[in-house]
Amino acid sequence: MSLFRTKDLATMVAASHAQHGLKKVLGPFDLILMGIGAIVGTGIFVLTGTGALTAGPALTISFVIAALACGFAALCYAEFASSVPVAGSIYTYSYATMGELVAWMIGWDLMLEYGLASSAVSVGWSGYFQSLIGGFGVHLPAALSAAPGAIPGVHTWFNLPAFLVMLVLTALLSFGVRESARLNNVMVGLKIGVVLLFILVGVRHVQPVNWQPFTPFGYSGVFSAAALVFFAFIGFDAVTSAAEEVKQPARDLPIGIIGSLAVCAVLYVTVSAIMTGIVPYQKFLGVDHPVSLALQYAGENWVAGFVDLGAILGMTTVILVMTYGQTRIVFAMSRDGLLPKKLSSVHSSLGTPFFATWIVGILFGLVAAVVPLNVLTELINIGTLAAFSLISVAVIILRKTRPDLPRAFRCPAVPLVPLLAIAFCITLTVFLQATTWIAFLVWLAIGLVVYFTYARQRSLLN
Ligand code: ALA
Repeated sequence: MSLFRTKDLATMVAASHAQHGLKKVLGPFDLILMGIGAIVGTGIFVLTGTGALTAGPALTISFVIAALACGFAALCYAEFASSVPVAGSIYTYSYATMGELVAWMIGWDLMLEYGLASSAVSVGWSGYFQSLIGGFGVHLPAALSAAPGAIPGVHTWFNLPAFLVMLVLTALLSFGVRESARLNNVMVGLKIGVVLLFILVGVRHVQPVNWQPFTPFGYSGVFSAAALVFFAFIGFDAVTSAAEEVKQPARDLPIGIIGSLAVCAVLYVTVSAIMTGIVPYQKFLGVDHPVSLALQYAGENWVAGFVDLGAILGMTTVILVMTYGQTRIVFAMSRDGLLPKKLSSVHSSLGTPFFATWIVGILFGLVAAVVPLNVLTELINIGTLAAFSLISVAVIILRKTRPDLPRAFRCPAVPLVPLLAIAFCITLTVFLQATTWIAFLVWLAIGLVVYFTYARQRSLLN
């Protein structure tokens, strides 16, 4: 039964405040911006090209499907987030409610989401950055431009810009949340501005004839693209991992999660409709900057330049929030004794988990430097879809087993909404590759081994 031992909620909240008090500095507006900062990035700026090739103009429908999957899951997340306001995202919530083994496996699974996503977006950032400096005639040696095997026929060795951007952002995070959140707010403002600029300028160049045929690859194309561009919505849940640093978590967390997701869904559907309305979808073959390509196609070259710059800033904020989320999960798991103790030490004057932040930054910076983007995105999507399904199951179970749990936000129409979240998430995983499934199961198996050989004995619950 010890596998299902849970932490006591009231003690958890009290202990986290007394023991390792992180500074409470974030409000609802910070959280919505933090959510958008985590969400709008490589998904819209890079993956929409492949998405349009997979679904045709019906990419808009793919975005709606992915948004629905995330939206239903977001309502479940919000219920958890508002009832257990302690750092560490669904790892912490499941520890209080579903038991230690489930919590460990969720924490382990989340490393596929936050950790690898920070790596994946650093790789996307590196591509745009190299294209930008290339415009000024500056080129990196090929060996330092990408991960081994990333470009067929080119001898690449280490993605230096991806590694360096991770280190710079790690330094920022390690010096304090308030400072990082402020910079994040400025960058998110610029990013939304650039997307709105695209919409306002692009809409005048739409040729409705490009939307015909609307579904050239049928509904299997639409769902395959949805499984891919699902990546574009990942990140809204990073808001929940800031729980301990929020001034009024019960009210502010649901606002942050659902608000940021809704804003992004509207932006994505609009952008993809305009993109495929300007450019015939076949022309996105092999393009890694589809949004600015659409503007170039329309002859709006100066706007395209702004969009490139906005994409770089946009991806910067995504890396920032993903790395932040990952450090807070490591912090929480360490505080519970499941990971080495040093990872939950708080810097005496800065008030941040300094050591954990640097370990996470260096580790996932190295992953970004040596693993190609396509390998990373597939794994991230399956890891996240699994986490969303689990949390939806948990909402249903906990309404039955723990009706007493304080819930500042209640997911509407339980069990219908959680069941819809599960149905959407599982449907999307069916459209991912078999090799991704195998890699995912291997990762979970390694997690079980680490739990039974290390974490279980060291858990503070002993
Ligand atoms: N949703 C994030 C992005 O699109 C991960 O980059």
